[in-house]
Amino acid sequence: MLKIFPEKLEASYYAVSLFLDTCRKAIEERGKCTIALTGGSSPDKLYSLLAEDKDKLDWSKLYIFWGDERMVPFNHPDNNAAMAYEKLLNHVPVNPEQVFRMHHEPDPETAAVAYQKQVTDVLGEENPRFDLILLGMGDDGHTASLFPGTRALAVNHRWVVANYVEAKDAWRITFTYPLINRARQVVFLVFGEKKAPVLHEVLNSEEKKYPVQHVEAEQVAWILDKAAAGKQH
Ligand code: 6PG
Repeated sequence: MLKIFPEKLEASYYAVSLFLDTCRKAIEERGKCTIALTGGSSPDKLYSLLAEDKDKLDWSKLYIFWGDERMVPFNHPDNNAAMAYEKLLNHVPVNPEQVFRMHHEPDPETAAVAYQKQVTDVLGEENPRFDLILLGMGDDGHTASLFPGTRALAVNHRWVVANYVEAKDAWRITFTYPLINRARQVVFLVFGEKKAPVLHEVLNSEEKKYPVQHVEAEQVAWILDKAAAGKQH
């Protein structure tokens, strides 16, 4: 499914309705909803609108993870979880024991192994299926921290890995394709003209040049603004 909106704000309102519908359905069917939030700046409006709509969801039934994280402390401006707390989680009645931040200590690989255990403790070892995974897309076609040319792209025996990103000279922790592609619903939030050239190729070319093109989940929704959608119609 692909929806194009004039601006990021309208797109974010639509993303709120999709988020709420997906969560309510999961809670109805399975008594809980498991979600992985995305980092980056694209979800900021979605998060603050969800906080405004907080009475529309039973937040106590949500189990909240992140699809990737930078190896910086929580109080660092680049920390993905910090933005989600500021815009959303500090304003809604989630159960803190059901919110799982990726940590960067003592080292990326140890932290990745620990996070994978938290994922499988909640979703099971054999077939961990998130109800909803929010994802962004970089203007190089990366998603989560699955960057072009990095080792995590080829990992299929782990759900969560540490990934060294040469282009950023930085370590990340990220979900792998096997985990992302098990999700019941993936929602991409892609805004801004910088994304248009790669997004046009991603949505129209058979050749899978970019990491984001290997996301296949059960349901994939693309929520775009006109600037990112460019020539797409
Ligand atoms: C991260 C994100 C990353 C992000 C894209 C888009 O940690 O950087 O998870 O995958 O979604 O880079 O970032 P923007 O939303 O800021 O454009």
